[in-house]
Amino acid sequence: MAFQFGYPETKPVGTGGSGPLFSGKRCFVTGASSGIGFGLAQRLLERGAEVWISSRNESRIRAAYETLSALGPVHWAAIDVCDADAIAQYLDEMAASGPVDYVFANAGVSAAHSFEKTTRKEFDRVLEPNLYGVFNTDQAAIPHMLSQGYGHILNVSSMEGYFANGYHSAYITSKFAVFGLTESLRYEYADRNIRFSVICPGPVVSNIWGRDAEGNIHTERKAPPESLTEVQAADEILAGIEEERNIILVTDTARTSWQKLREAPASADRFAMHYTAANRAVAQYLEQQR
Ligand SMILES: NC(=O)c1ccc[n+]([C@@H]2O[C@H](COP(=O)([O-])OP(=O)(O)OC[C@H]3O[C@@H](n4cnc5c(N)ncnc54)[C@H](OP(=O)(O)O)[C@@H]3O)[C@@H](O)[C@H]2O)c1
Repeated sequence: MAFQFGYPETKPVGTGGSGPLFSGKRCFVTGASSGIGFGLAQRLLERGAEVWISSRNESRIRAAYETLSALGPVHWAAIDVCDADAIAQYLDEMAASGPVDYVFANAGVSAAHSFEKTTRKEFDRVLEPNLYGVFNTDQAAIPHMLSQGYGHILNVSSMEGYFANGYHSAYITSKFAVFGLTESLRYEYADRNIRFSVICPGPVVSNIWGRDAEGNIHTERKAPPESLTEVQAADEILAGIEEERNIILVTDTARTSWQKLREAPASADRFAMHYTAANRAVAQYLEQQR
């Protein structure tokens, strides 16, 4: 398998081929009840894979299973990614019936807030699923991949895993950490045939935009108009895997911000201030709801 070190290409990826890469493959997707995880599960099934899905809320993941099972073989479980034992048990169950080919550590939450009004408990409420949920998922998958001699783990970070802005400190801390963790593991496991890729989406339509810290969904808060749909994002991710990218940038916004940071830092600063203003408005809205 070709191994590509270094930075991602910023050219757009294709819109997802119909190549055979995922046919018959067994894939685990955390956070698959909505958004990017649901889009990934849908596209993987449409391309002939078997999927194992999970999310925290039982009724939401069961509803996702009911929709997705029309497309192919799906297994589901309601598991909080913060529960390391439950994630490990689910992966053991998956491995007992065949290989664990791909693992997408996707579950995550967001929170806009002013840093000085954020308690340690609120900060950890984002770090726990976004960073330690990825830690738990990767730790549970690696022993199975080592014993089968191969595997590919994809950790979902964000465009905000390399491009910071204000009023989003817990989220950005978690996503920079996931970026670094994935890059570190990529080198550590390179000689043992476990691939690691970090997925960095820009804006994608999903429930994340309207969730509060408790996971309740406020439908009045929407993704920005330039957002990709969940299946468009999934198509870019699967195309990035086919192209053997280690850092998979998703959306033009993510690719532009990567490029600006390197080639036009002053313009990147203006871009970040634009996002900061938008986050400030959300933070103020949420702080009024408390
Ligand atoms: N949408 C974007 O614009 C965007 C941009 C960059 C990165 N991302 C990243 O993409 C990933 C997916 O988010 P999304 O945008 O698709 O949002 P979403 O629609 O809110 O989906 C998030 C998923 O994660 C699950 N989840 C949250 N906390 C969990 C926990 N503790 N344990 C298990 N499952 C949990 C949710 O499950 P329940 O429904 O059961 O609560 C849901 O299935 C996240 O890591 C997010 O940070 C999204």
